[in-house]
Parts: sequence; structure tokens; C-alpha cells
Amino acid sequence: MTRTIATAPVVEHPRITVIGTGYLGATHAVCMTALGFDVLGVDVDAAKVAALSAGTVPFFEPGLPEKLREALDSGRLRFTTDFDEAARFGDVHFVCVGTPQAPGSNAADLRFVEAAFAELAARIDRRALLVGKSTVPIGTAARIADEVRTLSPAGDDLELAWNPEFLREGFAVEDTLHPDRLVFGVTSDWAEAQLRAAFRPILDRDTPLVVADLATAELVKVAANSFLATKISYINAMAEVCEATGADVTVLATALGYDDRIGARFLKPGLGFGGGCLPKDIRAFTHRAAELGVGQAVAFLEEVDAINIRRRIRTVDLVRELAGGSLAGVRVAALGAAFKPNSDDVRDAPALDVARMLYLEGASVTVYDPEATQNAHRVYPDLDFASSLGQAVASAEVVALLTEWDEFRSADPTTLGELVARRRIVDGRHALDADRYRAAGWEYRALGLPSGARQPQALPGG
Ligand code: UGA
Repeated sequence: MTRTIATAPVVEHPRITVIGTGYLGATHAVCMTALGFDVLGVDVDAAKVAALSAGTVPFFEPGLPEKLREALDSGRLRFTTDFDEAARFGDVHFVCVGTPQAPGSNAADLRFVEAAFAELAARIDRRALLVGKSTVPIGTAARIADEVRTLSPAGDDLELAWNPEFLREGFAVEDTLHPDRLVFGVTSDWAEAQLRAAFRPILDRDTPLVVADLATAELVKVAANSFLATKISYINAMAEVCEATGADVTVLATALGYDDRIGARFLKPGLGFGGGCLPKDIRAFTHRAAELGVGQAVAFLEEVDAINIRRRIRTVDLVRELAGGSLAGVRVAALGAAFKPNSDDVRDAPALDVARMLYLEGASVTVYDPEATQNAHRVYPDLDFASSLGQAVASAEVVALLTEWDEFRSADPTTLGELVARRRIVDGRHALDADRYRAAGWEYRALGLPSGARQPQALPGG
């Protein structure tokens, strides 16, 4: 795609709209306000708009509720369902809607992205910049850039850029305000200059900026998530080898992690990755690469996915082994439902998947999660949910730690031991001190550890 030279003036302090107010959009709207901009958040969900307008974040994200209230108090943040208002208001419009896995396919479902751009474009009648933040298959941005120009009364004055987002749930505010890098996918000097103005406070801190074409910007995001998923599955594949040899994967991960070229982060063995991003992104990438005729280049991602799913099955095996060979009628306490700690997100959550598999094998499963119970109950109403850790483990014959919340890490094995029927625990996240549990009379098992292993060593990094 060719790049055009700037001809139009840049709005130095642009008014910002953020379309889609989920985990990504709500955080982006609040953080752009904190950076000093006037911001309008837009969502088709009136209940979400009402909650955010009243200062309530409709999901669990540490630090965001406080920042939302500060932003509302500044008088520079509002929320609406009205796309006409958004089109009039914004100089730079960020589209942050979801791209879930399409039903019955590995492809990404682009309906929400396409609708958001179309709704806006049809109403914008002056120079403005549309910016996609959603994770999309390569080639989507170039296609949408053409579509919006055709749809909009502004014609060629409506430009499109892509600005992938790398925030992690649980650290969303910090990652948005202090990103490792910014990536701008643009087709003109004007778009780059307008984006620079929109991110001026972050760029002024010498945050690295990578300016790219649209396709490269789209690819950066899926390539990054694919790399992270591959790193996790790599160490989990090593856990499978450890299980066959009596080696200890936690010691292996520690030793590998000290090599700066490898690094300890995302090298934590366990139940594997889940959530609304990594699993569906590697599947959508595989699908898109096949469409582009380069399926073989990322065929390894299918194995990354398969290794990840096998960890869930192996965790069920460990619980069954501890239960004496059969799960029928066995009371299991499942600790955790969210896909990771400090989140209430249960999309493709390994923890909840394991709880469901245990239930389907006839176990009587009680799930407890400090924040995700409501979401988990909506997805699997057949499971029993406890309202406290103590209630969950009461009379349990096996305890399975599936999400490494601090509440579980810091629990006292002796106190827990007094509540359960049998002191048997599967540590699906290498989160517990095995020696302390063994000393308190527990039979302790974990993925990738010989069954009689010494205490796993502390893993550097996170
Ligand atoms: C991920 C990426 O880390 C973000 O950079 C990206 O912006 C985001 O997806 C997205 O595409 O929107 P997130 O899904 O919030 O962020 O969660 P992560 O912290 O990456 O964790 C993903 C999963 O990997 C979790 O289930 C976690 O338990 C698991 N994990 C992580 C491991 O199993 N081992 C590890 O060593 C690290």
C-alpha cells in the first residue's frame, strides 16, 4: 500500500471517541481521559453505558474503578449509545470491539468490527481518523479502509489506521498508560502525525514507537500473542517429557529462565493458557495463514494449541489418580474459575474446563473463585459454586488448585487440612509450597513433577 504525504492539518489536541467499552475499550477511554483528552465512550449496550456513566466498571479490573471515577469527575469523559453524537464529537475514533472465535470455525468473527466502522463511517462528514485496535486477521484493515471511504460523506478525508493493543487483563491500566511500545499502522503521513498527537503524552516519555503499514501492524499483534502462547506450550511440552522421565519441570524452567536469551517470563509450566485472546488468536492466525496460502508457516500453532489442551486433560488424570482411579461420586474442590488470577474473565478458562471435565466424569465438583463465580455460573450452571475457600474445600476428597489467586497461595495447609475429608491436592499452577503441604500431611501432585518430588524451586519472573 502506498503512503501519501501530509496535506491536511493535524488536530494537536484531538477529541477522542472509543467504540466498544469492554475490557479493552473501557480501559482505553479512561486512560485517554487520564492523559488529558476529552473522550466519548460508545457502546451499543445501554446497560454498560449506564453503569460506566454511574462510575461502575462492569467487570473486574484492579485499579480501573478508581481511575474511572477520577476521569468522570474531571468532566472530560462521557459515555453514550449514540453514534451520531460520536461522529460529530471525534477527531480520532478508536474501535475496540471484540473479535471472538466464529461459531463452528477457527476464524475470527468480524461482525462487530465491521458494524462499528460502518456505523461511524456513514455518519462522519469531515476529516477524521478511524483507528482499529481490535485484533483482526491480516488484510482486514486495508479492506475496511476502502469500505469506509466509500460509505462516508467525508470520502477520502476519512482515513484508517491500525494501532494494536498489548494490554494484559489484570494490568490493563498500567499497560495502557505505560506500554512497552506503540505500533502505528498507517497509509499517510497525516495519519501518523494525527496518531502521534493522540499519543503525545506517552510518546513524550520516550516510549518506543514502531510505524508500519497496515498489514504489518495487524501481524505484530497476532505474532506477539502466538509467540507468548508458543513459549507457554514449549515449557508445558517439556512437562510432558518430565512426566515420562521423572525429571522436574519447575527446576528445568528455572534453569532455562536464567538464560537471558530465553527469559523466565511466560515460561511458567502448568495448566496452560486461556482467556479471550491467546487461544482464539492462534486459531484465527492458523485459519488466515491457510487462506493466504502459507498455512505451513504457522502449522506449529496447531501443536501449540494441542499441547495446551492436553494439560487440561492431564490435570483431570492427576485428580483421578489421587482419587484412586475413578472420579464417580468423588467430592472435588476446584479452586479457581477465571483464566488467570486478578480477572473475572472465564472465556476459554482452563480452570473452568477442568471443573467441567471432572463433573462430566461423575465427580461432585464445588468451584470457588474470588471474583469469577458469577461469570462461571452463567457458563456452567450445573456446577456447584461456593462463596468462600473454606466452604469449597469442606469435606473434599481431592482439592484441585486451578487458578493461582493469592488467596489460594497464602492459605495455610494445616487449616485447610482440618476442613477436607482427605488431604489430597493437585497443584495445577505450581503455586503452592509442596514441602509445607507434605509436612501438613497432604498428598501433593503437580504437572511435570515426579510424584515424590522435593519442593519445586521458586520460578523467577512472572
Ligand atoms: C494476552 C497478552 O499477554 C497481551 O499482551 C494481549 O494484549 C492480550 O492477550 C490481548 O490479546 O488482548 P491476557 O489474555 O490478558 O493478555 O493474559 P496473559 O497474562 O497473557 O495470560 C494468558 C494466559 O496464559 C493465562 O491463562 C495465563 O494463566 C497463562 N500463562 C501465562 C501461563 O500458563 N504461563 C505463563 O508463564 C504465563
